[in-house]
Amino acid sequence: MSDLISVRYNSVARALHWSLAFLIVMEYLIGLTMGDFGIKWLHLQLGYAILILVVVRIIWRITHKAPAMDSSLSRMNQILAHSGHGILYLLMLAIPALGLTLVITKGVPFNIFGIPISPLMEPMAKASRHDIKVVHVYLAHTIIIMAAMHALVALLHQFVLGHPILSRMLPEKLANIIEHKDGKK
Ligand code: HEM
Repeated sequence: MSDLISVRYNSVARALHWSLAFLIVMEYLIGLTMGDFGIKWLHLQLGYAILILVVVRIIWRITHKAPAMDSSLSRMNQILAHSGHGILYLLMLAIPALGLTLVITKGVPFNIFGIPISPLMEPMAKASRHDIKVVHVYLAHTIIIMAAMHALVALLHQFVLGHPILSRMLPEKLANIIEHKDGKK
């Protein structure tokens, strides 16, 4: 095993990272087009799944130590990376939580994965629900922009600056392959 392997995220953290990254991008695209295709139900059900996965991911993160930041990063870059990750966690939690709030405040029956749920409250005023929706959509645009920047930074570090950052979030075999291509190993 190389030094690199010992500082990689473990398999559960990686599985949660990549499945959530994929589902969040899908959920965003579905959210933008659901009106045209009549797939609001899919946006809601996928949203519940994302919310559960995010809660699992946060619990996993709190209860398991993440690998130390790459020592080739400057102190400033390490602070920026920590802050960016923190904001991504907040957005990942806030967006589906606001979506669930929109469903609950409608004050009508709904279902989660087919399990019927009676209205949990009287319908909230339309104007207030509209405000919640605006924030939900605004934060959704924000997480996509932030995730794109986050991905670009990871790719830049790995393939341009020669810092093994992307390989930290990859399975061993794939990490080894890109390390070879990178000419670092
Ligand atoms: C919606 C999409 C994404 C979200 C919400 C997201 C979120 C996150 C978060 C919160 C972390 C911090 C993990 C921790 O330390 O607990 C992280 C780490 C990481 N992500 Fe993503 N990510 C996304 C997509 C991507 C993509 C597309 C790439 C690569 C092309 C990527 C590469 C990485 C890498 C390399 C790390 C580890 C960074 C390090 O060790 O310092 N992510 N991601």
